[in-house]
Amino acid sequence: MTQVSANIDTAFDVSSIRQRFPILDQQVHGKQLVYFDNAATTQKPDSVIRALSDYYENNNANIHRGIHALAEKATADFERTRSTVQQFINAKEVEEVIFTSGTTAGINLVANAYGRKFLNAGDEVIISTLEHHSNIVPWQLVCDEKGAVLKVIPIDDQGDLDMDAFRKLVSDKTKIVSVNHISNALGTINPVKEIVQISHEAGAVVLLDGAQAVAHVEVDVQELDCDFYAFSAHKLYGPTGVGVLYGKRKLLESMNPYQGGGEMIKEVTFEKTTFAELPYKFEAGTPNIADVVAFDAAIKFVNQLGSKKDILAYEQSLLDETTKRLKEIPGLRIIGEAKQKIGVVSFVLEGLHHFDIGMMLDAKGIAVRTGHHCTQPLMQRFGIEGTVRISFSIYNTLEEVDACIEGLKQIVAKWR
Ligand code: ALA
Repeated sequence: MTQVSANIDTAFDVSSIRQRFPILDQQVHGKQLVYFDNAATTQKPDSVIRALSDYYENNNANIHRGIHALAEKATADFERTRSTVQQFINAKEVEEVIFTSGTTAGINLVANAYGRKFLNAGDEVIISTLEHHSNIVPWQLVCDEKGAVLKVIPIDDQGDLDMDAFRKLVSDKTKIVSVNHISNALGTINPVKEIVQISHEAGAVVLLDGAQAVAHVEVDVQELDCDFYAFSAHKLYGPTGVGVLYGKRKLLESMNPYQGGGEMIKEVTFEKTTFAELPYKFEAGTPNIADVVAFDAAIKFVNQLGSKKDILAYEQSLLDETTKRLKEIPGLRIIGEAKQKIGVVSFVLEGLHHFDIGMMLDAKGIAVRTGHHCTQPLMQRFGIEGTVRISFSIYNTLEEVDACIEGLKQIVAKWR
């Protein structure tokens, strides 16, 4: 056990982990950077950065079509990541792992390729108040087109889903339930296994938006029994522009392709096209090869860290300390104190706008997120326009929490 601060015992050597992230060792506005915007994107370890430059320095070629050595190497590296992802989320088959450009693309893929094919007028799609716009707007678009109805699971004042209300919403009209595993704005960990069970009993399929989950909690898609699971590499220490859509084979096979083009076909004539097998049926065009290849290093980095339980416990200890100390600041209101949370804390401060707080913290080298976090309906539920959001990762420390709380206290003393 490594003692990183006076109060936190951790299974990790946090200072060694920090050394793997070159970006953290820098000054911003003359102050040591404190990076607390991990729910927006995590920083990248040296192995991911190296894998990216190594790909372009040594291996760059287009994949799947070439017979030359570089093409074969690039193809093998690309497909290696697919197997690593399969193991990481415990998908039954490697063909159930589809590469996308990110979570948003994965949700849009399901809304279009499944929703547009199987939804009919009067059918219902259920989402929740906690959703990111990327899990609201695609369903609004497809529901409008098909005459289906969008229903929303309410939340309580703590930011937990109202599961009794959910049970009442589900009926034989429900065809799709699409909710996040963990809320990006509040950090709420949702009871997704229960949601899947209830939805399946009603005959609905379930998509889980796992963007905020994969870096913090164990994700086993077979155990969850979800039908689709979407996430992004860049919130999991990997590159931007890569995501994964997991889908059960039977469902993916029942869907039409989302986009047409190269790679996704078996045979094309002007009269008729037949489609490639999974997963290529959903991967039209040249994919983001370099970033998929480097994503492998990101997952291996996480696997080497140890158990997700330890990762979550460490991040939650930072959360607990931060929450306790934020509450000592007069006029500060925490938005979202769900029973189970990852290391995310959102708050508002009476008399100070969240943007101003964010800018003043930035001047002290502290990077936090401000605004509506792409969850405007959730902000409306709390009667606010936005929050200041602190979100932790495995490389954050209690010393950084000290700096942030101290910074906030100075801001309050000076401006209120
Ligand atoms: N969805 C990302 C966030 O919560 C960008 O910040």
